[in-house]
Amino acid sequence: MTDKISTPRAQWGSRIGFILAASGSAIGLGNIWRFPYTTGEHGGAAFVLMYIICVVLIGIPVMIAELSLGRHTQRNPVGAIKAITPKGGWKLLGYLGVLAGTVILSYYSVVAGWTIGYIVKTITHSTSDFNTFIADPKSEFGYFIIFLGLTMLVVLGGVKGGIERWSKILMPALFIILLGLIVFSLTLPGAEGGIAFYLNPDFSKITGSTILAALGQAFFSLSLGMGAMITYGSYIKKETNIISSGTIVAFTDTLIAVMAGLVIFPALFAFGMQPSQGPGLVFNVLPQIFSQMPGGMIVGLFFFILLAIAALTSSISLLEVGVAWAVDELKTSRTLATILITAVAFIFGIPSAMSQGYSEFFSTIHFIGKTGFLDIMDFVFGSFALTFGGLMLSLFIGWKWGAKNAVAEIQSSRIGNYSMLLKIWSFLIRFVCPVIIFLVLLNLFGIF
Ligand code: TRP
Repeated sequence: MTDKISTPRAQWGSRIGFILAASGSAIGLGNIWRFPYTTGEHGGAAFVLMYIICVVLIGIPVMIAELSLGRHTQRNPVGAIKAITPKGGWKLLGYLGVLAGTVILSYYSVVAGWTIGYIVKTITHSTSDFNTFIADPKSEFGYFIIFLGLTMLVVLGGVKGGIERWSKILMPALFIILLGLIVFSLTLPGAEGGIAFYLNPDFSKITGSTILAALGQAFFSLSLGMGAMITYGSYIKKETNIISSGTIVAFTDTLIAVMAGLVIFPALFAFGMQPSQGPGLVFNVLPQIFSQMPGGMIVGLFFFILLAIAALTSSISLLEVGVAWAVDELKTSRTLATILITAVAFIFGIPSAMSQGYSEFFSTIHFIGKTGFLDIMDFVFGSFALTFGGLMLSLFIGWKWGAKNAVAEIQSSRIGNYSMLLKIWSFLIRFVCPVIIFLVLLNLFGIF
């Protein structure tokens, strides 16, 4: 066991509260902004299939692993690793998580700012298109600061009062509005082309880069690979069933992503737009949908409000990792930690905010096949670092801490007879996850 801490650690109020907060972390821009445009760039249905395989074979096992390490050690990612192996380099993995979380928060808040901007655009009936909108530094910076500020305020509110309370109300609302949008989108004339693109796989489109993109997207969308789920796991009660809760979170997250695709692609084809247009995709398609829908303005308004809120329940988990680290390891107050880490994310976010046309340099900077500062950060931290983190975490939890110890932690909640599932999990986390992730990364460096 770990050493004692003076004040009892905060805990989720209930199992359902935890599931909703973890789903809140998972469900966000990753599902509604990143998943559709990545699917569009990688050829549609074949990517969706690869994505689902990655979630089941790798995402769910890593999710369960992170949650059990968190609950066992009751710590942030750095502290959790130190509690298992006080010496050696493993704790660097924890620092990588804190760094990745802060950088992801920085550009995530920029994109989330766009959703706030779209709330305003909808209310004011502004017709400026997406590219004009994001190149305007006045609105761009304003919304970015507002969003990051909101994230800070919720995290200042703490685990139960802040994060859990918000997630409980807002996640179900998002689900219902998506359902309505799907019905509308599917009934548009010309929707069939989109359904075929999205659901009828063309396997010739699967390449090494498709698989990396699918795996990276799985880590991003499920909030894995940098310790967010270790941190959220550290607030779980001993009696909570990690296997079923983790699986429910992954399932809900995947459902929402697939639903977002069902809104976007039929409409996209109905309007004769391009699926491979990159990060602007949903911001270009959605306003079109709303403009054709009866009562579309109100629906659009609600949608962007809910999207901003879904982004908020995710961004707070990105911030929470760094905050938990500073509170546990540096013994700062929660308030100071929150303000400092927000400030760091703000500074990192400035070039991302300027990378959409305002600053020539940050908009055209080129690195490893990506153009623009925001896209580069998203690839390096939002895809590569998470995938690498997932590899190291599965090695750490499967071998260093040991799958046996993790299983003992999972079983400490007396969840009944899960022995078969736990055997499968041990096999996946020790062999399947590291081998597949390793091969995907090798492929990235062009080894094959
Ligand atoms: N999963 C969130 C989304 O889909 C983003 C996110 C929140 C995240 N916390 C994370 C991504 C931790 C990686 C790691 O929008």
